[in-house]
Amino acid sequence: MKVYAFVLLALYLQATESRRLSDQMDNEIERSNGNRIDFGKRVKDWVRISEAPSPVISYPADSRIQLECEAIGSPAPTIQWLKGNTFLTDNNLIDDVPPHGMAKIRARLVINSALPIHEGTFTCVAESGAQVATAKSNVYVVRNENSERNITELLTKELLETRAKPTIVLFDTIYMDNIGSDIVLPCKAVGNPRPNIMWFDPTDNRIRASNDRVTVLPDGGLRIRNIHWSDMGKYVCVAMNADSQDNISTFLYPMRKSKASSPTDAA
Ligand SMILES: *[C@@H]1O[C@H](CO)[C@@H](O)[C@H](O)[C@H]1NC(C)=O
Ligand SMILES: *[C@@H]1O[C@H](CO)[C@@H](O)[C@H](O)[C@H]1NC(C)=O
Repeated sequence: MKVYAFVLLALYLQATESRRLSDQMDNEIERSNGNRIDFGKRVKDWVRISEAPSPVISYPADSRIQLECEAIGSPAPTIQWLKGNTFLTDNNLIDDVPPHGMAKIRARLVINSALPIHEGTFTCVAESGAQVATAKSNVYVVRNENSERNITELLTKELLETRAKPTIVLFDTIYMDNIGSDIVLPCKAVGNPRPNIMWFDPTDNRIRASNDRVTVLPDGGLRIRNIHWSDMGKYVCVAMNADSQDNISTFLYPMRKSKASSPTDAA
């Protein structure tokens, strides 16, 4: 029932998306390679930010900064973070086929110990094919007497304090694609010691590199080739180190190709 409702929602969003394109012009940015993004070219591609980080956030010096951003789009979007004009992430999915599918993706930006140098404008950049949507967050680090005097101390701590709990920083909450597609469900994690990634299938069995069709990639992503209807369900990614764990789940919805345009048939 839940799945059915989402399919309806997703198709509705897709249908209304072309009307949003003019709004997205406001969000247009120039890519780092200087190419202007052409919104007119591929009208079928669409993306929007479904949950933006707060536009203004203050953190006490030395606290943990965590920004969250969520986007939905088709083809399956990816999210990058920028500080000012500098890319902080390299979340381009390594995929040997043209972008496809539709997904809701979540990204987190984690800074373990806030310092005044971390202040600035952070931008969440969601891309689906030729389309881009952005959301900005101005981060302030509130200094106090202690923090001013303790900058050296904090810097030393940032460099020396190697332990940080695992946090999954890029994953899809929902992924829909045509039956027969080759897909990758992202799961990128940060933490120190570096967390290990494990995936569990909808029957709660750990996925091991037992066959070529389903593989856990070195970057943590789960690749499934030639998705079947029976692959449908909740996949759980666990990032674990000696200290603790973080986990997320991605709902995979394989769709029947010829019927994808009608919500009634797709369900
Ligand atoms: C550094 O900050 C702590 C509080 O976090 C404070 O107790 C201490 O006095 C500060 N040290 C210096 C050298 O100011
Ligand atoms: C996911 O995280 C929650 C909260 O920490 C925990 O209770 C649960 O056991 C975890 N699930 C898995 C599969 O590790």
